[in-house]
Amino acid sequence: MTIIELRNTFRDKLKFSTNECDFLYKVILKDLCELDPIKIALDPNFIVDKSSEKLILTSLDRISANYPIDYIINKKNFYGYDIYVNEDVLIPRPETEELVEWILDDNINITKTKKVIDLCSGSGCIGIAISKENNYMDVTVSDISEKALEVCNKNKINLDSSINVIKLDLNSKYSSQIKYDIIVSNPPYLSFSELDSIGENVKFEPDIALFAPRNNPLHFYEKIFEFALDNLNKKGQVYLEINPIYIEDFKQLLSRFKLNDVNFRDDFRAKKRLVKVSF
Ligand SMILES: C[S@@+](CC[C@H](N)C(=O)[O-])C[C@H]1O[C@@H](n2cnc3c(N)ncnc32)[C@H](O)[C@@H]1O
Repeated sequence: MTIIELRNTFRDKLKFSTNECDFLYKVILKDLCELDPIKIALDPNFIVDKSSEKLILTSLDRISANYPIDYIINKKNFYGYDIYVNEDVLIPRPETEELVEWILDDNINITKTKKVIDLCSGSGCIGIAISKENNYMDVTVSDISEKALEVCNKNKINLDSSINVIKLDLNSKYSSQIKYDIIVSNPPYLSFSELDSIGENVKFEPDIALFAPRNNPLHFYEKIFEFALDNLNKKGQVYLEINPIYIEDFKQLLSRFKLNDVNFRDDFRAKKRLVKVSF
């Protein structure tokens, strides 16, 4: 098939706008087939070789079935860094970039090393971005999932990052000899009751990354505060992404832990999704 026929097949088969179909087609051409999308305009009758054609049509079938494009191309841009992703990790979200931005802004003028731990790190996107952007940030990323840690290590190598990667189960008590100055986390925070309201494409992401156990969406926040009591320096900060639906329950949890130096921030969708807790 020619490059333009394949483009038209994308437009015919996908239920998206023409612009969205073209965008997805160009991503597949560029990132999977190493073909320059400019050919669509400059050489529309260019014959795509059989193996690329197969890749393009298989990708089209997967996109039609709501499979995320980021898993197809194994890549998601996060804070300017191309993060490798596969089905073992959550696809980094733009609202999480705002959490990174907050930490970087608060520490723009530091002149001494700060120890940072990213709990529930998934792909390692948060920790990698922070350490790449500020040389004073000595960052450890941690997750329970061995497969997620493999992805972290791959990203560490690909992006020439200095992060430490460790396995850490938040459900087990953890007392490190190192005390951290900053804890950051975007833990699993959905409850199974929200299953019907999440997008079809989200269902391809790992359950362990999405859902809090025991149907308690605040489970990991409790664990993170317990971790902070044992492992955070006095006057340290905890930066979290939270589920805006459970904001009132989250506030009750803060009072239970007697935490009252708290700042909430809206994300770019005007949802209360980011919080900084100073200990
Ligand atoms: C919402 S994902 C966040 C990934 C990444 N921080 C991001 O923002 O893209 C949550 C992560 O928590 C991890 N996780 C789940 N249960 C855990 C536990 N008991 N201890 C530590 N990490 C856990 C999952 O493996 C998953 O990678």
